[in-house]
Amino acid sequence: MFDELAHPLVIALSKGRPLAQQLALLQRLGIEPSEDITTSRKLVVKGNHPQIRLMVLRGHDVATYVEHGIADIGIVGKDVLLEFPGDNFYEPLDLKLSQCQLIVAGLIDEKPLPRRLRVATKFIETAKRFYASEGTQIDMIRLTGGLELAPVMGLADRIVDIVETGSTLVANGLEPKAFICDISSRLIINKVAFKTKQPMIDRFIESMMAETQ
Ligand code: PRP
Repeated sequence: MFDELAHPLVIALSKGRPLAQQLALLQRLGIEPSEDITTSRKLVVKGNHPQIRLMVLRGHDVATYVEHGIADIGIVGKDVLLEFPGDNFYEPLDLKLSQCQLIVAGLIDEKPLPRRLRVATKFIETAKRFYASEGTQIDMIRLTGGLELAPVMGLADRIVDIVETGSTLVANGLEPKAFICDISSRLIINKVAFKTKQPMIDRFIESMMAETQ
């Protein structure tokens, strides 16, 4: 598909658990990194076509690189996009990869809750919207990982977090208290690249659609 690329194509992938599925999808499209991107310390590597570059970044940074046009295309979780302000890129495709849920969780054996909940999360905007829709006032505690620890150690009453297998909740004596939304990996496209590299990006989207829908 990419034999006759007229322009470089920069693709940003999300590091961590979703990366293996993203690479497998690209491989089905005939795109492969020239070296093992899962073990390399290099943050940008060539693809098997000289015009293709692949970057591996934290999800939020994938969105930032695509917004600024450094990456033409990104693959990133909807959980990240829900945190991202504004209408900064196109989001043409739900890739249906890395499916999980955003939930509210708390201790299985929890004490009576205070009137004003302490909610720990890294999904600040999502948590704000959820509790605003419930009409519940909260104190937000911003954490960056290991959220399950917060109720266990008494830092927070509830967490807003991703659940995939549920094993982290179980291992820490927590349970889901409310469902917020389903999450999956999404394809995002820089708005300028969408116009200037249109035929190539159209083909890319069509191929991804054929592989994922
Ligand atoms: C995510 C999430 C949960 C865990 C859920 O964390 O924040 O902690 O995975 O997965 P499970 O339902 O399959 O147990 P991640 O592993 O990304 O690390 P983090 O805690 O540093 O965010």
